[in-house]
Amino acid sequence: MRIVIAGAHGRVARRLGRLLSSRGDGVAGLVRNPDHRADLESDGIEPVVLDLEQASVEEVAAVLAGADGVVFAAGGGSNSGIARKDTVDRAAAVLLADAAETAGVRRYVLVSSMGVDAVAGGATPDGTDEVFVAYLRAKLAAEQDVLPRTGLDVTVLRPGGLTDAPGTGRVRLDRHVARGQVPRDDVAAVIVALLDDPHSGAVVELVAGDTDVAEAVAAIV
Ligand SMILES: NC(=O)c1ccc[n+]([C@@H]2O[C@H](COP(=O)([O-])OP(=O)(O)OC[C@H]3O[C@@H](n4cnc5c(N)ncnc54)[C@H](OP(=O)(O)O)[C@@H]3O)[C@@H](O)[C@H]2O)c1
Repeated sequence: MRIVIAGAHGRVARRLGRLLSSRGDGVAGLVRNPDHRADLESDGIEPVVLDLEQASVEEVAAVLAGADGVVFAAGGGSNSGIARKDTVDRAAAVLLADAAETAGVRRYVLVSSMGVDAVAGGATPDGTDEVFVAYLRAKLAAEQDVLPRTGLDVTVLRPGGLTDAPGTGRVRLDRHVARGQVPRDDVAAVIVALLDDPHSGAVVELVAGDTDVAEAVAAIV
């Protein structure tokens, strides 16, 4: 397969890129910082410098041409303010979807977040930091924009709190799971399995668990 990863120098994304390239898939990684090219090259990934807050649909679509799938793994990051929750976590995910449709790439895995249900319908959860509320709203808005598109086969993955603990290859993956954490290694492994075994229209939450990744993905309803 040829896969394009948006936010390719991120901590989940680098793990994902290495998993894909080590099994022989062709991987292109979108990064905004040219200094990140060398790291991607050392992982066997073709770096493409594109700032997803500046790029046009046509520029992104040109990179996606001929790909089998795209993964949105970018994010404004914990230090970003409210504005970049919207320009990255929402708008860049939408841009990637627009570009995938333009390029005729159907398979799209959107890395969202557990907790977005708390802001559904414009709700504001009590006692939640306003930047985090903006983050959840941006993630939910991205889901709502991307999921209904008939030109894409979208799977929305909502991980719990991400950790850098070593992966176990075992997860809990379901429409709703109890809050928890999950190693980034295991998030990357689940994304690979979702690219191999797409579940169009599925929205699934992910935390650490006892089920083998491939079995957990195969069991998605
Ligand atoms: N942290 C958590 O506990 C948690 C929980 C659930 C879901 N998530 C979501 O999981 C995903 C992956 O998380 P992570 O920890 O791997 O994220 P990360 O390490 O912060 O990586 C995010 C990547 O997005 C890139 N990015 C930001 N703005 C960009 C732009 N304008 N154009 C291109 N790339 C851009 C960043 O590049 P730069 O280095 O250039 O900034 C960075 O490499 C994110 O969507 C995050 O919101 C996180």
